[in-house]
Amino acid sequence: MSAFTPRLETMSDHQAKTRVLTGITTSGTPHLGNYAGAIRPAIAASHLPGVESFYFLADYHALIKVQDPARVQRSTLEIAASWLACGLDPDKVWFYRQSDIPEIPELTWLLTCVAGKGLLNRAHAYKAAVDKNRETGEDDDAGITAGLFMYPVLMAADILMFGAHRVPVGRDQIQHIEMARDFGARFNHLYGGPAGKQYFVLPEAAIEETVATLPGLDGRKMSKSYDNAIPLFAPPAELKKLILSIKTDSRAPGEPKGTEGSALFQLYRAFASSEKSAAMAQAFADGIAWGEAKQRLFECIDAEVAPMRERYEAMMARPGEIEDILQSGAVKAREIATPMLGELRRAVGLRDLREALITGNRKISTEISKPEFKQYREKDGLFYFKLFGSDGEFLVQSKGFDSPKVAGEVVAKIKHGGARVQRDSNVNLVIIDITIPQIEIERSARTVADVEAGRLVMTIVVDQVLSDASAVIGNVVSGVDPGDVVGALEQLVSQNNP
Ligand code: TRP
Repeated sequence: MSAFTPRLETMSDHQAKTRVLTGITTSGTPHLGNYAGAIRPAIAASHLPGVESFYFLADYHALIKVQDPARVQRSTLEIAASWLACGLDPDKVWFYRQSDIPEIPELTWLLTCVAGKGLLNRAHAYKAAVDKNRETGEDDDAGITAGLFMYPVLMAADILMFGAHRVPVGRDQIQHIEMARDFGARFNHLYGGPAGKQYFVLPEAAIEETVATLPGLDGRKMSKSYDNAIPLFAPPAELKKLILSIKTDSRAPGEPKGTEGSALFQLYRAFASSEKSAAMAQAFADGIAWGEAKQRLFECIDAEVAPMRERYEAMMARPGEIEDILQSGAVKAREIATPMLGELRRAVGLRDLREALITGNRKISTEISKPEFKQYREKDGLFYFKLFGSDGEFLVQSKGFDSPKVAGEVVAKIKHGGARVQRDSNVNLVIIDITIPQIEIERSARTVADVEAGRLVMTIVVDQVLSDASAVIGNVVSGVDPGDVVGALEQLVSQNNP
């Protein structure tokens, strides 16, 4: 993207709305715990006024732990179909696949360059892997990819790209949100410039205390890694079978049962109305048989899931439609990401070279606040210098000199006040009246027309208007005001001769 492309919108246009963003790693099949804990509340939140929701498939993140391509693809399809089947309206929200947004890995690099390695060393997931290696006497980083190490930076790019205010995540992810704040704040500080421009919104983790964490078949938290999960869209027969396998105690029918700590009851409560939950609690107290309770749980879950399951199966049969939805989601997301990245590229100095040097921040602005000469040798074998103004503007291109020594001597003389600089307004020239040992002049400037008694009137020609009595040492770059050249030269002299 050209650096001159204007931003379509700025973060401030959205300040009235709260941006909520979350990613779903495409490494598995959605289960009831994902549904009750993330999908259902997220879809409900997307209907709230004043909220802009961003939900995306974190497939780059999936590559960190899954190196089975078929599984990554299948999971991406299943998760996308699940969210859509559960009622996510892609016209109302931003729903996209991370890997369709090339600006995200690009931002990851910009953030990598401000991220403290020490902070990343302390990331829980990485530290846990290191600790495990230490326990088993392995090398600290044995089997650990740089992907795992960089996980928080990629996640920060996901969040910071879209100016998210709130990021609903599980407790295990809070540290990652804090890291995103840290990287964003460092970037703002480094590149914000004198005006303190805030490129990034600093996000907050949103931990929903009221959202259910569902137990799995064995009573522990439902999780794929515990192998205790109930797939959200298991066919009814499988759903029933799994529910029947939920661990219960050995209380016989007729014996009163407690709801406290009962996985069965917690699952029921996550799907039933409060009246039905109260009735179930009563049934527990009255000694409902476990088989009967499980049957009721199945019916309750299936009542909510069945219509979505039907949509899910229809969508899974037409992956092309899901692909199309994700593609248009990517277009919509990139309407934000592309101009945002353009702005960030400019902020760090990845810029169109035609742009005059910009004083991006204080540090840079003091560095380039002086006019300066730059010397170099061209392909023609001759030695040249250029003069740049205090804002980096290219002012003068010299003629070629035979020797670097003479070119350097001319530059040094001018810098140290050994030349009289004036602007001749009649002939539109900048005249540098300079004394240089004649021998050098003759050797270096063979075309010099006017050498008198060791004095050379060197002329920088403006608009190619030649003075008849002077040697030409260079041309003012077209479009430059000769007054700027004189100003830059005077500034140089005063800086070098304090
Ligand atoms: N790391 C998150 C998880 O495992 C997934 C994720 C990736 C994410 N990028 C994100 C969550 C950005 C919130 C925001 O659950």
